[in-house]
Amino acid sequence: MAKKRLYIYFVCLIAAFGGLLFGIDQGIMNGSLTLIEQDLGLTPSQGSSFAAILLWGSVIGALFSGYIARTIGRKNTLVLAAIAFSIFSITTILTSNFTALYIFRFILGLSVGVASFSVPLYLSEIAPTKMRGAFISMYQMMITVGIFVVFISNYFIAKIVGDWRPMFLAITIPAVVMLIGMLFAPKSPRWLFLKNRRKDAEAVLYKTRFSKEEVDFELNEMSEAMHMNQQIAGGAFAMLKESYFWRVLVLGIVIQIFQQISGINSIIYYSTQIFTNAGLDSPVIATIIVGGVNMCTTVLAVLFVDKLGRKPILYFGYVIMAISLFVCAWIFNLEANGQALTDVLRALVVIATLVYIFAFAVSAGPLAWVLCAEIFPLKGRDIGLTVTTATNWITAAIVVSFSLPLMQFADGSPNYQGGTYLFLFFGISCVIFLFILKLFVPETKGVPLEEVEENLLSGKKLNKLGTRRH
Ligand code: BGC
Repeated sequence: MAKKRLYIYFVCLIAAFGGLLFGIDQGIMNGSLTLIEQDLGLTPSQGSSFAAILLWGSVIGALFSGYIARTIGRKNTLVLAAIAFSIFSITTILTSNFTALYIFRFILGLSVGVASFSVPLYLSEIAPTKMRGAFISMYQMMITVGIFVVFISNYFIAKIVGDWRPMFLAITIPAVVMLIGMLFAPKSPRWLFLKNRRKDAEAVLYKTRFSKEEVDFELNEMSEAMHMNQQIAGGAFAMLKESYFWRVLVLGIVIQIFQQISGINSIIYYSTQIFTNAGLDSPVIATIIVGGVNMCTTVLAVLFVDKLGRKPILYFGYVIMAISLFVCAWIFNLEANGQALTDVLRALVVIATLVYIFAFAVSAGPLAWVLCAEIFPLKGRDIGLTVTTATNWITAAIVVSFSLPLMQFADGSPNYQGGTYLFLFFGISCVIFLFILKLFVPETKGVPLEEVEENLLSGKKLNKLGTRRH
């Protein structure tokens, strides 16, 4: 029994390495970008388009991953992503050609996009029911671990070697671990069942479940789900003809857009620049603390989301985020008017940023994903999640592309006025989202997904989709 438990943990941990790589690739620009800009002579707008190209790759990766995961299977998709991560993190450090670097980072982005869709899918299909929630949360956790680890490794590499190339080499280690581990991981039993390989599915279940009853129960569930799916004519795309599906699709898209235009990735990518602009002596240390707070406070979300509910946490988070962003905008505005910052104001920029990160990590960060996984009817969950995941990446790419040119002039000197407008925009977006939350977002805590679906089909208002019927 203990051996089996260990095996299941091993499989889930290896798959969750996809989350770690997602986080590393997101966080790597912070601390490396200035060195890259200096080394290759890039302007801020070239620098931020280099940072953002990963996100555009992720959009494409996310859009195609549903098809790839269905065709070659979840495990093989993750093996493929791990191969791409391993190869292209190495090629990145072997060239100084900007176009080649651009292409390699785009391909890394494709892998991130594929991993961001396939890892939660694989985990939800391989984990025993009772452990499923915890394992999917582990994926979210690993993203924040990745961001934190890369902030630290970038710091030490910059200090000791002073070169950006070894920073990218750091991606190779977890990528190779994931690749080797995934080769030993089993295929998803649900995918095997989908491909009519019932015997193989059964064999995997025997390896990963604790009793024969559990195996029989899940096989039975899979048969029923398969039967139901066969009765649905036209497949997932038929959902696009249904107006009720569009209502939740637009809601999911709006939730993801507002998660991103709250400015999270401007901070994850550029906090070192933000702190440098504020005149901090050790901006990189402050950035590492940002990563640490992001990682540690995500645990709180995992602990409280099913106790306090989604909406109270989101109200709390977005109010605090808005206040912190307005504080930053106010301080940048003082600088724009030529005022030199006192030590207190400098410290306030760091405190406001950390408070913002804390509020995001407990609310908007995990809950945008949780809600999008809960509002779609079964038949449209695939396409709904594909579209909302891609929306998250598209908006992230736009925000990351625009942030740096707004915060810095072409010669790299700080543009305080631009920074003021940017943070004001993020703050106002948070306020607007509070109204959207009140008017349209349902409370789904403790509501079975089938009841959310029934409410949707019976024409209930969006903010009433979580009303209990039974
Ligand atoms: C967001 C990412 C962000 C990360 C930070 C995720 O929920 O979708 O864009 O970088 O949180 O922890």
